Amino acid sequence: MDRKTIRESLGNCLTDTSDLGIGRLSKGKVRDVYDLDDRLLIITTDRQSAFDRVLASIPFKGQILNQISAWWFDRTKNLIQNHLISMPDPAAIFARKCRVFQVEFIVRGYLTGSTNTSAWTQYNSGAREICGNKLPDGMFKNQRFEKPIITPTTKSDKHDESITPAQIVSRKLMTRGQWDEASDIALELFRRGQKTAAEHGLILVDTKYEMGIDQDGRLTLVDELHTPDSSRYWLSGTYEERFLRNQEPENIDKEFLRLWFVQNCDPYGEGPLPAAPDELVVELSARYVQLYEMITGERFNPPPDEPALTRLRRNLRAAGVQVEEDKLSFLDEPVGRF
Ligand SMILES: Nc1ncnc2c1ncn2[C@@H]1O[C@H](COP(=O)(O)OP(=O)(O)OP(=O)(O)O)[C@@H](O)[C@H]1O
Ligand SMILES: [Mg+2]
Repeated sequence: MDRKTIRESLGNCLTDTSDLGIGRLSKGKVRDVYDLDDRLLIITTDRQSAFDRVLASIPFKGQILNQISAWWFDRTKNLIQNHLISMPDPAAIFARKCRVFQVEFIVRGYLTGSTNTSAWTQYNSGAREICGNKLPDGMFKNQRFEKPIITPTTKSDKHDESITPAQIVSRKLMTRGQWDEASDIALELFRRGQKTAAEHGLILVDTKYEMGIDQDGRLTLVDELHTPDSSRYWLSGTYEERFLRNQEPENIDKEFLRLWFVQNCDPYGEGPLPAAPDELVVELSARYVQLYEMITGERFNPPPDEPALTRLRRNLRAAGVQVEEDKLSFLDEPVGRF
């Protein structure tokens, strides 16, 4: 998609859905989750988070993440039931309400990462066992593991911490049986994800799954699936050659936006953040579009040119959700007539 279309959409991001007046909202960093009693309405907004805060709004990002998840949910539903019921709007789904395990199932196919807690950093400083997975000596950065490994963390509002399967059971986050079943499924999902990604010129490097129990007691995959926010992707065509030359793999990531904030403010502080330059926001949107097209093999169709909230309001109302009137449309009414 051309940058002009993205640039023209900079002022039309889906950032705040509170004007819809739907009621019981729980707000994540990226998603607005409404409790509709018998089910959830999950709206994936255009908010971009990093450093545990919201940095900017990226045109089309919510729709892209929502549609990528739906694409993968469809391709994995014979492995595990997922929470998707239907998609009333490109950026929203009705979802099965679940009791979500307070555990993130992180699956890694490669020894990589650069943060303090990443598998590579731990390995490089001598660790040969990561969350109970034994690793051989002599591995290099970005090398493929013989078999994908699972490294669970707690799901917390602050910083997620590594946890072992034994602790998951002893802290009663899951039963042993639930862990055994969910971790087998996570590895199976990852194998399928890697195979499909490879057919599309991508390596699925690592990812995070969330699972829960639905109202009928069934194990259910929730949240998002194999999106660029929950997963790392590399381009497969150049991986081998670059790995042998000790070069970083090619990817389509958002590191440049994080770097801009690190260089221009203290994103770890409490103070307000400066606005990211438009050109960086357009660039990131273009990268999400490119990833959408590579992952799904389909062209991305931008939504028609109208305010995002107007579209969402219309689609939700058509799907039977009680939505408040557009406040702006009252202002549009001719004033002073009797
Ligand atoms: N089917 C579901 N039932 C219950 N809760 C769900 C379901 N699907 C997703 N959730 C929860 O809704 C929230 C979605 O919010 P969001 O994706 O913005 O994430 P977050 O947890 O705030 O932050 P991040 O994912 O970036 O760490 C998450 O807490 C997720 O666990
Ligand atoms: Mg999330």
